[in-house]
Amino acid sequence: MTEARTPIGVFDSGLGGLTVLAELRRAMPMQDFVYLGDNANAPYGVRPPEEVIDLTRAAIERLFAEGCALVLIACNTASALALRKLQQEWLPDAAPDRRILGVFVPLIEALTGRGWRDGPGRAALDTAAFFATPATVKSGAFTREAQRLAPNLTVIEEACPGLVDAIEAGRTPDVYVREAVEAALKRGTPEAALLGCTHYPHAKAVFRDALPAGTPILSQPEIVAKSLAAYLERHPQFKGGTGWLDCLTTGDPAHVSARAGALFGRALPFDPA
Ligand code: DGL
Repeated sequence: MTEARTPIGVFDSGLGGLTVLAELRRAMPMQDFVYLGDNANAPYGVRPPEEVIDLTRAAIERLFAEGCALVLIACNTASALALRKLQQEWLPDAAPDRRILGVFVPLIEALTGRGWRDGPGRAALDTAAFFATPATVKSGAFTREAQRLAPNLTVIEEACPGLVDAIEAGRTPDVYVREAVEAALKRGTPEAALLGCTHYPHAKAVFRDALPAGTPILSQPEIVAKSLAAYLERHPQFKGGTGWLDCLTTGDPAHVSARAGALFGRALPFDPA
């Protein structure tokens, strides 16, 4: 990598974050990115918090070593379990001039119709459903963060065990989605639904089918891309490049490249991390 490049790091436990990366590149075609998938250690959604924190820190260090001054944790599980801790307890000493962002703040802003910098207040809706991995749901981090901004909001958090594996393996996601949606609807009537895992956009049509007709499903990749583009306007020091992309994996590059190609319908070569 040359000195002139100023890539933004995008981190996910595996391939799911490519849904976010695709929207980031659409919104910011001239920005350089380095994508890192921790495929050797995925899935994160069934791991205890300490492991997710250690793995996330190692991935961010790897992206810093690639020259990334800003890293987006695209993975919801890592955002839920590791982001705050790393931002508060690790980054200030380890790399004070670098920044780590997660995916919850943009999602909560889009859901509530409120800006984070405006402070707490009433959300535009009272009840939302949030579908995510078991570890994300167990952490309760999304509800906690959402209610910091909008105390009136009730979030029905529902885990979708097995859904990430089904999507990764190319199996039909229907049964996992339907079970989770059914369980959520027994607990309340959501005015909107959030897919709180980078893999779930691949099952969006099934969620749409299973949810009551007309329930809006917020699209995380688009929301995160819009938010990052706005962040870069406010912080132009993190911006730059020519639209170049490097994809790294801790897993087997040939296997990961083939899986990425199958999921996204076009070749995406990965290098070893
Ligand atoms: N990428 C993770 C997320 O967004 C899900 C996959 C995993 O369990 O590793 O939550």
